[in-house]
Amino acid sequence: MIKIGVIGHGYWGPNLTRNFAELTRGKLVAISDLDPRKLDMAARRYPSVKTTRDYQELVRDPSIDAIAIATPVSSHFELAMAVLKAGKHLWLAKPMTETSLQAQKLVDEAEKRKSVFIVDHTFIYTGSIRKMGEIVAGGNLGQVLYYDSTRVNLGLFQRDVSVLSDLAAHDFSILDYLLHEQPVAVSASGINHFPGTPENLAYITLFYDSGTIAHINVSWLAPVKVRQVLLGGSKKMIVYDDLEPSEKVKVYDKGISFTDDPRQIHEMRVGYRIGDMWAPKLDSAEALTVEAEHFLDCIETGKTPLTDGRSGLRVVELIEAATSSMRGRGETVHLRRQGVMA
Ligand SMILES: NC(=O)c1ccc[n+]([C@@H]2O[C@H](COP(=O)([O-])OP(=O)(O)OC[C@H]3O[C@@H](n4cnc5c(N)ncnc54)[C@H](O)[C@@H]3O)[C@@H](O)[C@H]2O)c1
Repeated sequence: MIKIGVIGHGYWGPNLTRNFAELTRGKLVAISDLDPRKLDMAARRYPSVKTTRDYQELVRDPSIDAIAIATPVSSHFELAMAVLKAGKHLWLAKPMTETSLQAQKLVDEAEKRKSVFIVDHTFIYTGSIRKMGEIVAGGNLGQVLYYDSTRVNLGLFQRDVSVLSDLAAHDFSILDYLLHEQPVAVSASGINHFPGTPENLAYITLFYDSGTIAHINVSWLAPVKVRQVLLGGSKKMIVYDDLEPSEKVKVYDKGISFTDDPRQIHEMRVGYRIGDMWAPKLDSAEALTVEAEHFLDCIETGKTPLTDGRSGLRVVELIEAATSSMRGRGETVHLRRQGVMA
């Protein structure tokens, strides 16, 4: 039985404890939060679980095998490093750190200690993204031409991170999973409409060597909630609407082709293909349940998590590059495969 502790029981932490408490191969044993009211609520829900304001009590407890961190990003590095140095397995909320240097240090420490390190990029464990991954990997979409995401709502303004870091992090991890290719350049624009707060609206464009282009629109200042991705391939196109109750992923057999027929030289040589639409059956299991089981599998077998520290590091590098571009009003920032070029 793998014993798990959770640090941070604000908005996201209770989703983790609910899932960990239901595991059959794992056991939720301790919860830490600085806020006594959050601890009271946790103690009422899980009477047999130890609660404490001091996260060090979890870190020092030799009976705890793994610790999940769901605190604000500014505290991730210090807490995560303490967990790894204690020789425990680590689950860390996204985005994993504020800087890529901190992320690299955590990756190195986890590898040195042979600890399992999962970064909670939850979308990768949804039925929708896993199905889209299958479709892309199976070649059914053809060459991926574009990824176009709108992730907007009247959002919870964060104090320590911009909307780019908070919401575009989801798209960066989804792209990392779907494309298996790193962008070579990024350009971003954004704005904070309220002085002294981080940017609340951003438009980000990523360029890939293969010709794929990705555009991401994130905002905490939209009157309606939209969570929609268009994924365009040379053979088929996908519309993924995360707010749809059941048919979240729709595959369209639509596209265009150009003809080389010399007799049509003076005409637009484009042919339109308009075929069927197909909504594949998706695994409806909660993403955090799938992710928690995967975390335990990795601890038991030594397997590398799908969203390991290195994938989390790539996301932080992209956040850094896009933020630098955004602060330079859309100036292109060039990237290399691993890490950002100066
Ligand atoms: N994967 C997702 O879809 C998703 C969704 C929401 C939030 N998150 C991530 O989860 C993390 C937490 O976000 P949130 O919205 O729950 O924040 P929050 O502010 O609601 O909760 C954070 C909690 O951590 C506690 N805390 C802070 N420092 C602590 C410390 N040293 N020891 C113990 N407790 C401490 C705070 O008291 C608070 O209760 C962030 O990294 C965020 O990006 C992920």
